[in-house]
Amino acid sequence: MSNMAHPDPWPKSIFARNLTEEAGITELMDDLGEALTLGRGKIRMMGGGNPAHIPAMEVIWRERMRELLDDPSGEFDRVLADYDPPAGSPAFRAAVADFLNREYGWKLTLANVAVTNGGQSAFFFLLNRFAGAMADGSEKRILLPLVPEYIGYGDQGVSATALFDSRRPEIELIGERSFKYHIDFGKLAVDESHGAIAVSRPTNPSSNVLTDDEISRLRRIASDRGIPLIIDNAYGQPFPGVILTETRPVWDENMILTMSLSKLGLPGTRTGIVVAREDLISDIRSMTAIVGLANNNLGQALARPLIESGRIRSLADEVVRPYYRHRAERALALAHEHLPPDVPWRIHQSEGAFFLWFWFQDLPVSCRELYRRLKDSGLLIVPGKAFFFGLDTKGWPHAEQCIRVSFTQPEEVVADGFKILGRVVAEVYR
Ligand SMILES: Cc1ncc(COP(=O)(O)O)c(C=O)c1O
Repeated sequence: MSNMAHPDPWPKSIFARNLTEEAGITELMDDLGEALTLGRGKIRMMGGGNPAHIPAMEVIWRERMRELLDDPSGEFDRVLADYDPPAGSPAFRAAVADFLNREYGWKLTLANVAVTNGGQSAFFFLLNRFAGAMADGSEKRILLPLVPEYIGYGDQGVSATALFDSRRPEIELIGERSFKYHIDFGKLAVDESHGAIAVSRPTNPSSNVLTDDEISRLRRIASDRGIPLIIDNAYGQPFPGVILTETRPVWDENMILTMSLSKLGLPGTRTGIVVAREDLISDIRSMTAIVGLANNNLGQALARPLIESGRIRSLADEVVRPYYRHRAERALALAHEHLPPDVPWRIHQSEGAFFLWFWFQDLPVSCRELYRRLKDSGLLIVPGKAFFFGLDTKGWPHAEQCIRVSFTQPEEVVADGFKILGRVVAEVYR
């Protein structure tokens, strides 16, 4: 019996079913890993959200690592050999709270800050904290006021019920080649089935930045309903600050902010940050302890002095944002140079993050087929369909006509990638 060649599959729990079936994010991370290892040199990796290797930032992280190694108090040994408390290092949490208070005049303490293993884990906890099968027997969902929204939320639900209830945006056409999404407030219809409202700002994939006015309206709607407004700042304020429109970050006890060190250049350290009222921070602390005991503490140790001194702000403003602004402008120029003039393509207004979001009106094939043809030609992008989750997209061709193109890889890779994109798109429409 012990050498049975084909044992029957073990029955799956709902948890296992939800976390093991085909998921957009799994395919995306597999593609990314494959392109960055096996395919290096052969495949232009313009799919994932890997941050660029910005030389000026790499210098800073190296310097910080050396300081850590040489620290006379033995901080390096503590980082390696001591578990952090499950909410994160108290010194790091206090540094984040003080920094945000100085920047924005808030009144946070370390009890309002928790660390998680990346923003991804923060969202896993938050989404399942506020929606799914509730302790009182009811079911709740997360309202996404505007999709496309971050693919990585899509498959995170662990209970039997669907986790999201999403809304189509209003689409403003801008000139010949651009467009912008807006929340359609007339169709939000928030009710007691919603456990929270969530948005990413800037939004991955479209790079849309919800305006301060849109955020104030969402805040009001959420607090009238007694549910939180969750804002994912993975690319946004205050760091890494890859946001190209004027925005003023806000927080109150009815809001939950997430931030991350990943897009500053530290995705390998898996460091996410949740800012929220104290009882929620305590929930996050318990979840971290149960799921993983403690967080990775290296990112916290590397970044803490930069947060304490406020230097992180000048790095965001003077290094990271200008870098990505330049890369976005360059990518836009390449798109205009290489995409066929007789095809009805548009690009979402470039307002932040690491992507251009293309809309091919009247695309003769599905976006998945376009993705396959591009992959066969040596270019990896992400087909747009999986970003439109939590609603029925039947009868809405837009959801089949978009792709996300990342521009963080070296300039020659991106230049090559846009050539391939232009050629394949011309073939598809021919
Ligand atoms: C919008 C958004 N939120 C959260 C994350 C999670 O990132 P991390 O877990 O590395 O903080 C990502 C990663 O790409 C993202 O794009």
